[in-house]
Amino acid sequence: MPETVPPPKYRERPRRVTVLGSTGSVGRNTVELLAADPGAYQVEALVAHKNASLLAEQARRLRARFAAIADDTQYGELKDALAGSGIETGAGAAAVVEAAARPADWVMAAIVGAAGLRPTMEAVRRGAMVALANKEALVCAGVLVTDEAKRRGARLLPVDSEHNAIFQVFAFEQREAIERIILTASGGPFLKRSRAEMENATPEQAVAHPNWSMGAKISVDSATMMNKGLEIIEAHHLFALESARLDVVVHPQSVVHGLVCYSDGSVLAQLGSPDMRTPIANALGWPERIGAPSPRLDLAKLAQLTFEAPDPERFPALRLARGALEAGGGAPVVLNAANEVAVASFLDRRIGFLDIARIVERALEDLSGAEIGSLDDVYALDGEARAAARRVIGNGSGVRA
Ligand SMILES: NC(=O)c1ccc[n+]([C@@H]2O[C@H](COP(=O)([O-])OP(=O)(O)OC[C@H]3O[C@@H](n4cnc5c(N)ncnc54)[C@H](OP(=O)(O)O)[C@@H]3O)[C@@H](O)[C@H]2O)c1
Repeated sequence: MPETVPPPKYRERPRRVTVLGSTGSVGRNTVELLAADPGAYQVEALVAHKNASLLAEQARRLRARFAAIADDTQYGELKDALAGSGIETGAGAAAVVEAAARPADWVMAAIVGAAGLRPTMEAVRRGAMVALANKEALVCAGVLVTDEAKRRGARLLPVDSEHNAIFQVFAFEQREAIERIILTASGGPFLKRSRAEMENATPEQAVAHPNWSMGAKISVDSATMMNKGLEIIEAHHLFALESARLDVVVHPQSVVHGLVCYSDGSVLAQLGSPDMRTPIANALGWPERIGAPSPRLDLAKLAQLTFEAPDPERFPALRLARGALEAGGGAPVVLNAANEVAVASFLDRRIGFLDIARIVERALEDLSGAEIGSLDDVYALDGEARAAARRVIGNGSGVRA
């Protein structure tokens, strides 16, 4: 848990860093911050899935020691692009784990999906500071990851903007005075759309987020509000609060990112423009603060900040995620795996937008009750849930009911 390890008095310079998922949306923002102050960081390793050309370019730019590509069919391109640079290269799942195992003090976990779990756990096992963007790792294996962090003295630094906001205003030493926390949700591109309009929504409409520029999977998750559901589960593990003390409020401007409510009636919030470079910089500099080029807030220009309750009818994913958290055991693994399969099928135009939640619900009904004691249990159940979701999609029984 974040409060178990006291912050170092000052941060080591240069900080040795690794970025898992450096070619993605969070990864590219992290690379930009690293490149802005080259003397402050020594880059140990960078990891991507398929994008060998961008990975090689980043590795040269940051003078990384090691670059790993998960998809080994792209290894030739990576090797050629880094020939003569002195940068070591690797390919495949084992190379991704090796990247996380190398001796960086600070590791950005920004691989998307359950694929990020094993490398994230590897960094935790080394006792590193782990900047956690990969929420799916906590959703699937929250107890395993936080227990291991406690055992190894690893520090989990939340990067999701809502959790990073709460981390900044959460008085860990006064936890008994904290009544609840509130995660804000933009409501995504379909906040004001009817169910009929959502039924026919296209991938292009779903990924066109009004405030944030993000990867395709999390953009669809924002549109269904499954993202907020995953974040409730993530918050449960990061802040050790039960479901009843984790609230969600829709805030379309995405300026107030997270709030902590105290027993004297005070509510502390963190505000900022919707720009991931702020929470990433907060984690990268921690426990100090470093600069970030995010646009500054102009409250007078904003004029209005609005809040409303989420609509459970149009956004059933929130209810499904909360149900999975409360059911415990393997339910969050099933939720996450079925959602990953359903989102990929939606992006491939094989199912409709509202089918995503239907498929997740069917998988949760079919696979309830599994217990999780190890990462192997997580991967086994993750596989079963993916197969169950694919069956539902294949036979059409769970879609467009
Ligand atoms: N984007 C945001 O603003 C934001 C905000 C909060 C939290 N998050 C969370 O941060 C994580 C990353 O999101 P994102 O939007 O940055 O995703 P993204 O743009 O899709 O990037 C994903 C990154 O992971 C890599 N990757 C994918 N599968 C992999 C595998 N099997 N092995 C190794 N690397 C793999 C990708 O490599 P390639 O480029 O080669 O495919 C890419 O570098 C997600 O868990 C998301 O929920 C994102």
